[in-house]
Amino acid sequence: MGLPVVLMPGPMNPSVAAGLDGRCELIRLWEEADPDAVLAARRDEIVAVATGGTRIDGAFLDRLPAVRIVASFGVGYDQIDATAAAQRGVIVTNTPGVLDDEVADTALGLLLMTVRELPQAERYLRAGTWQNGPYPLTRATLHGRRMGILGLGRIGQAIADRVAPFGVSVAYHNRRRKDVDFRYYPSLVEMARDVDILMIVIPGGDTTRHLVDAEVLKALGPDGILINVARGTVVDEAALVDALRDGSILSAGLDVFEDEPNVHAGLLDLPNAVLLPHVGSATIPTRNAMGNLVVENLVNWFDYGTPVTPVPESADLAKRHNS
Ligand code: 8YV
Repeated sequence: MGLPVVLMPGPMNPSVAAGLDGRCELIRLWEEADPDAVLAARRDEIVAVATGGTRIDGAFLDRLPAVRIVASFGVGYDQIDATAAAQRGVIVTNTPGVLDDEVADTALGLLLMTVRELPQAERYLRAGTWQNGPYPLTRATLHGRRMGILGLGRIGQAIADRVAPFGVSVAYHNRRRKDVDFRYYPSLVEMARDVDILMIVIPGGDTTRHLVDAEVLKALGPDGILINVARGTVVDEAALVDALRDGSILSAGLDVFEDEPNVHAGLLDLPNAVLLPHVGSATIPTRNAMGNLVVENLVNWFDYGTPVTPVPESADLAKRHNS
């Protein structure tokens, strides 16, 4: 039997191709002169997809009826319709766990940058303005503040662990209460009203779209700080621009945006927004670990029919393969 044929629709971290070397035939679709012709010619041979940001829905999978697994790079997989995949007998895997600490570190850095206006202060120095006087005192401080985590999962927990030594108390809002000591709020608006910092770590997708809207921002209030390291779609970005502009909230630190890599022009103009280009997990060691987990999922599936980290929508399928 020949090697399994794996489709890579777009470029990925080099660790993926390196790890798959010798284990499969890899089709690098973006390098093909006529991608549609390649998909049509190989449709009955391609059994797996390794993917980063490419949108994969039912229509995509219908073009590739032999595919049985989609191994996605990243913990968030909102660009993949995992339910449509499961309906077609296709397992989806993601890369949880290996990036928790990196993203939590970024969240903490972004929080400090935003609360203490560190990027603004650095720009002040570089512009030579220090000669005219010290940088103005910041209104906010981190110590003793209350943080509300929207989406307390592994990354949220890693953030909670990191802020405890800063004297920051933690509450959370999830769909369901968890077995943790932090205060649980069944209502996001009520939590926003009670905290100073709203930390967004919840997955993207249709169910969380614009969860943080004008009402939540108003509840966060004029001393409130919004940090988002999850998905831009969770926040109504136009409402956020209005809230930052009119002082409904104090400031925002954002690593993610609704239409990446495009950033709302209103945000770019605002002095009270700290903006990062989606670098939450962007270190060489962490991205390699994510790539290795993509490879592990595929190789385990080739060898034993069982992926390592299937997403919840694929759990039943993965179990059936296992039995
Ligand atoms: C990466 C991420 O930016 O894992 C995620 O969900 O958002 C980030 O780690 C992304 O996977 C890059 O493709």
